[in-house]
Amino acid sequence: MSAGFRTVLLKTLDAAGQALNRGVVFRRSAQGSHDTAIRALRALDRAPLAPAIAAALHDLTFRKSYTTVGGARLSQRLILAAGLVKGDGFADEERAISAAESGGNIMPGWRIAPALMGTVEFGSFTRHPRLGNTGAVVWRNEETKSTQNRVGLRNPGARAAAIFLGERRQKLPSEFGINIAVSPGVDDIERQTGDVLEALSFFLDAGVHPSWFTLNLSCPNTEDDPQGHQLEAETRQLCGALVERLQARNLEIPLWVKISPGLATEQYRALMRVFDEVGVRAVIATNTLAQPSPDGRALQAGVGGGDLFPAALEAVRQLLAEKKRRDYTVDVIACGGILDGSSLRQYERLGVKAAQYWSALVYRGPFAAAIIESELASNDSKYEAVQRESLA
Ligand SMILES: Cc1cc2nc3c(=O)[nH]c(=O)nc-3n(C[C@H](O)[C@H](O)[C@H](O)COP(=O)(O)O)c2cc1C
Repeated sequence: MSAGFRTVLLKTLDAAGQALNRGVVFRRSAQGSHDTAIRALRALDRAPLAPAIAAALHDLTFRKSYTTVGGARLSQRLILAAGLVKGDGFADEERAISAAESGGNIMPGWRIAPALMGTVEFGSFTRHPRLGNTGAVVWRNEETKSTQNRVGLRNPGARAAAIFLGERRQKLPSEFGINIAVSPGVDDIERQTGDVLEALSFFLDAGVHPSWFTLNLSCPNTEDDPQGHQLEAETRQLCGALVERLQARNLEIPLWVKISPGLATEQYRALMRVFDEVGVRAVIATNTLAQPSPDGRALQAGVGGGDLFPAALEAVRQLLAEKKRRDYTVDVIACGGILDGSSLRQYERLGVKAAQYWSALVYRGPFAAAIIESELASNDSKYEAVQRESLA
C-alpha cells in the first residue's frame, strides 16, 4: 500500500477520533469513558469477525519498522504501555481462578487490542489478585492532554491471568510483553522475591512466553511508596532473581524494568548500574508521576500525558547519559507524554529506539501509535500546533 494512501487514511481516522472526542467522549467523565472503553474491549474480544477486521485495519495503518531493543525483536517502535489490558479485579485467588476456568473473559482487550494496536504490554499483574481502589479512579486534563489515575493495580492476580492466557496461547499475538508488579504492602524482601518469582513461573508454566517480561517497581497508586522498591539492594535482589529464573528456563525472554519519574540523579545512576550488573535488558522510563488526586481525598494519583512529559524526558536523558558514560548494554525505552510526532522526536533525538504510550490512546484514539509514527515520518505539525494553542 502506498505511503500517500496510508497518510490520508490516518489523517481521516485522526480527524474522526478528535471529532468523537469533542462531541461525545470529552462530554462525559473520564471514568465513564474508561468504563465504556473496557466494555467495548470485552464485547469486541468475542465478536466473531472483530479480530480479523482489527488485524486488517492494523495492516492498513501500520508500516512495519523492525528494531531489536531490550533483547526483543519488535516490528513496531511504539508499544501500548501496561494498564489497559490487565484484567478484572478480584477479592481472592479462588474466585479469580474459578472465573478464569469458567471460560469467561477476565481480561478485556486481550484479543482485540493487539489485533488493532499491534505490540501491547499486558498487566500489571501482581502475585495475588487485587480489587484496586474504589470510586472514580481515572481523570483527564484536556488543557495539557494529561491523564491521572489511581486504579491501584486492579488485576486478577498472576495465577488466574496465567491460566486465562495459557488456555488461549494459540491465539496470543506473536509479539507482546507481560508486566509483573511487586506486591504492594510487602516489606519483607524474601517474601517479595518469592512473590515475583511465583508470578513469573505461573506464566512460564502455563506456556505463556511473551517477547519480554517487565518488572514494575514504580506504581504510585497503591498503599506503598514506590520509591521504596527502587532502592539498590531491593532492586538487585528482585531483578537478579528474575533474570536467573528466566535464564534457567533457557527461553531467551529478556527482563525489562519500569521505574518512576523524578528520582534523584544518583538513584538513576545506581539503578542503571544494578540493571547492567544483573542482566536487565531494558528500563522503561517512566511510570506515572505521583500528584494529589483531583477528587481532593488527600490521596496520590499518577499523572501521565502532557504533564508527565518533561519529567519522563529528563529521566530518559539521565539514563541514556549514564548508559553512554559507563558503556552499559541496558536499553532505555521511553514512556511519558508521547502524544504526537514532536514528542516522540524529542525522545528519538536523545537516542531512544522504542517507546511506550498510554495517554495518547485517550487523545489520539486507538490508532494513536500509527498516527504518531506517521507524523514523525512526515514532520506533520498540525496536532502540535493545536496542542501549543491549548497550552498557551
Ligand atoms: C488508567 C491507567 C492505568 C495504568 N496501569 C498501569 C499498570 O497497571 N502498570 C504499569 O506499569 N503502568 C500503568 N499505567 C502507566 C502507563 O503504563 C504509563 O507508564 C503512563 O501512563 C505514562 O505514559 P503516558 O504519558 O503515555 O500516559 C497506567 C496508566 C493509566 C492511565
